[in-house]
Amino acid sequence: MRKILIAIDGPAGSGKSTTAKLVARRLGYVYIDTGAMYRAVTLKVLSCGIDAADETAVVELTKATKISLVDGGELRVILDGADVTDAIRSEDVTRNVSLVSSYATVRELMVARQREIGSAKGCVMDGRDIGTVVFPEAELKFYIVADIMERARRRQEELSDNGVELPIHQVVKDLKERDRKDSTRSSSPLRKADDAIELDTTKLTIEEQVEIVLNYVQDIIVGSEGSVGKEEMQRK
Ligand code: DC
Repeated sequence: MRKILIAIDGPAGSGKSTTAKLVARRLGYVYIDTGAMYRAVTLKVLSCGIDAADETAVVELTKATKISLVDGGELRVILDGADVTDAIRSEDVTRNVSLVSSYATVRELMVARQREIGSAKGCVMDGRDIGTVVFPEAELKFYIVADIMERARRRQEELSDNGVELPIHQVVKDLKERDRKDSTRSSSPLRKADDAIELDTTKLTIEEQVEIVLNYVQDIIVGSEGSVGKEEMQRK
């Protein structure tokens, strides 16, 4: 069956990572979380004691950094040989990642790696600029959005699962600040690609989000392969 590349972009807490991960599993595709790559660089910056505002130092460090994503059921993030899957989700990393990812050279280095990984097809990639910059030619693009209060509620729940309790107004404030930084930076800001399908997940369950995306995938595959493609997808 023909394999395609699916780009899923959107702001933090919109449900894009959860959707992307499950869609990849259902299709037997590789899942690439590009936010995890920017988080890994940020973790290295912080643990090396470099000021995230020092662009030259951050760029030099990024050039000397090796990041791999290993998708063996659960996606593991490997930074210079060490597993940092959990460490990259810390509040400290979250607070600094928008600044680190705003540097054009950091982005160029990450985008080159993302293109390398995604060129094999059969891949679901999520981020902020996948449909606009990394893979503008992706066969299927989604731009996932959700109401700010719902996004904050999801983020609060995720933090709580990791033992961090924050009041909802603080979570809303942090999300708005990250949205502002991610969508106003000069280098590939967060925006919907003209040909992306906008999906509002505010009132959808995770299973519904996944089904919607899979239906679009099925339409594309069936469109190019006829009923054989459809039968194969239904067997999955
Ligand atoms: O998806 P996330 O929240 O883990 O992403 C962390 C940050 O990384 C996000 O605030 C902006 C940045 N990012 C980016 O600039 N481009 C991407 N393709 C993915 C993430």
